[in-house]
Amino acid sequence: MALDVQKIRADFPILQRQVNGHPLVYLDNAATSQKPQVVIDAIVDYYSNYNANIHRGVHSLSQEATDVYEAARNKIQQHFGIQHAHEVIFTAGTTHGINLIASGFSSFLKKGNEIIVSALEHHSNIVPWQMLCERTGATLQVIPMKEDGTLDLSAYISLLSEKTKLVFVNHISNALGTINPIETIIQKAHEVGAAVLIDGAQACSHIKPDLAALDVDFYVTSAHKMCGPTGVGMLYGKEVWLKKLPPYQGGGEMIKEVSFEKTTYADLPHKFEAGTPNISGGIAFGAAIDYLNNIGFDAIEAHEKGLLEYATEQLLQIEGLRIYGTGVKKTSVISFNIEGIHPYDIGTIVDKLGIAVRTGHHCAQPIMDFYKIPGTVRASFAFYNTKEEVDRLVAAVSKAKQMLT
Ligand code: ALA
Repeated sequence: MALDVQKIRADFPILQRQVNGHPLVYLDNAATSQKPQVVIDAIVDYYSNYNANIHRGVHSLSQEATDVYEAARNKIQQHFGIQHAHEVIFTAGTTHGINLIASGFSSFLKKGNEIIVSALEHHSNIVPWQMLCERTGATLQVIPMKEDGTLDLSAYISLLSEKTKLVFVNHISNALGTINPIETIIQKAHEVGAAVLIDGAQACSHIKPDLAALDVDFYVTSAHKMCGPTGVGMLYGKEVWLKKLPPYQGGGEMIKEVSFEKTTYADLPHKFEAGTPNISGGIAFGAAIDYLNNIGFDAIEAHEKGLLEYATEQLLQIEGLRIYGTGVKKTSVISFNIEGIHPYDIGTIVDKLGIAVRTGHHCAQPIMDFYKIPGTVRASFAFYNTKEEVDRLVAAVSKAKQMLT
């Protein structure tokens, strides 16, 4: 069923505002999504009505807060098709989840082991593995990318061997929007006994992954790309892995018994949740998941596909405009440049016309090096964007081109 986009837009207070004298056109959804009123209300409701620390008190407020926070964990579990709620670890976001796994794998890796990442990774998916390799003597292998912004799968298969211990790939590239064939990547890695971690930061606002069907070992994502707040995310790990991995941070909440001689750790998921968590964030993450599911991912996907096709077609009418990332399977992200113009200049001019896009290397410098460019202009669309907004983008980019050439 087609989305009633105007009705949906009314849920987002920020979409009613003006920027630089123009109605806001927000096309930086890959950096962070906007928040509907129900998510904002969930945060206000917690602080106004039942603010208390969780898992700690017998008093009513603490129990109320604990119940709502744990209900949010259950919503995440159900949304992602996860078998056990204790396989859902609340994190501060995707980067936190990746670092938790990278730190844990320090105890499993040694010289001669290999970790595979892809050429399409965000810096947060490169640097923690380089640091892990420095600590352990393992080496980093890279799945090369092709001109259309997709991964070279036959090169991937030839990189796999019994030396491979961990494969790490994003579900969708933040810079290009390419949807990676993670089903095949997971299956091939498992054939050589390697574990797989998928970064779903760019995927979960567009599609609903079924983690049980994927049989992935670890999956990480952030709430703020899914209409939730910043500073909260989730790490899914198979129970068998989470039991094996050592804790990431020590502190309150993650212990069973503490003495100066010896400490024993709490059961899952608390073993990985040291300290007071982002309680309102976790609760609002649950509210965001409910909000997205009420709209429905089939409708979201269909609407965004329409926007992607229309925007691609319209932008390509501008002479000298090149789109990077032209694989068949991609999400509603368009990274582009106009010959002879720096992306930053285009971003600055379209901002003056009320349009928010991201410019630069998008924390994915290896991709920019591959194309031999300093960066791109990136327009990333969400289910609340419209074709009229695409028209405003295209008119603004055409104007920027006129002014800059
Ligand atoms: N990783 C986010 C982006 O792609 C911040 O913009």
